[in-house]
Amino acid sequence: MVHRAVCPGSFDPITMGHVDIFRRAAQQFDEMVVLVTGNPNKPSGLFSISERVELAEKAVADLPNVTVDWWGGLLVDYTTKHDIGVIVKGLRSALDYEYEVPMAQMNRSLSGVDTMFFMTNPKYGHVSSTLCKEVIKYGGDIHDVLPPDVEEAIQKKLSG
Ligand code: PNS
Repeated sequence: MVHRAVCPGSFDPITMGHVDIFRRAAQQFDEMVVLVTGNPNKPSGLFSISERVELAEKAVADLPNVTVDWWGGLLVDYTTKHDIGVIVKGLRSALDYEYEVPMAQMNRSLSGVDTMFFMTNPKYGHVSSTLCKEVIKYGGDIHDVLPPDVEEAIQKKLSG
């Protein structure tokens, strides 16, 4: 039996905090999908869905059992369709916990899929896509918590 997991998120854009979770979680499963969620026909956020996928693909290129996909519907429909047994999420703090618990319980009640949580590496405990965009907007240097290419991609977007 193949043990598959999915790591869903908006990833607008991906950070090293995400990549650290993917790297650690990927060791526990045969295959893992990083799933960019959102509707390509209703753009929201800084990057389009395809741009987010492209940045994520570059960031996980060295992880052989990790692929990147996108999905515009219910997460549980994706997990059922692809025979994925586990949703993986990262937890930075109690705030994340409060946000994640109802989603984990809703997903489990909808389809039986379980959610596993990985504690964020303390090195990235303060990192979020939103804060990274804000810091770069005002000229801060944050390249050490972003995968290569992402800082430049944010700068280009914000200036263009
Ligand atoms: O990175 P985010 O925005 O915290 O991720 C939240 C996400 C994308 C995982 C959540 O909104 C989600 O699962 N969206 C897909 C639609 C869905 O299934 N919604 C019901 C969740 S209980």
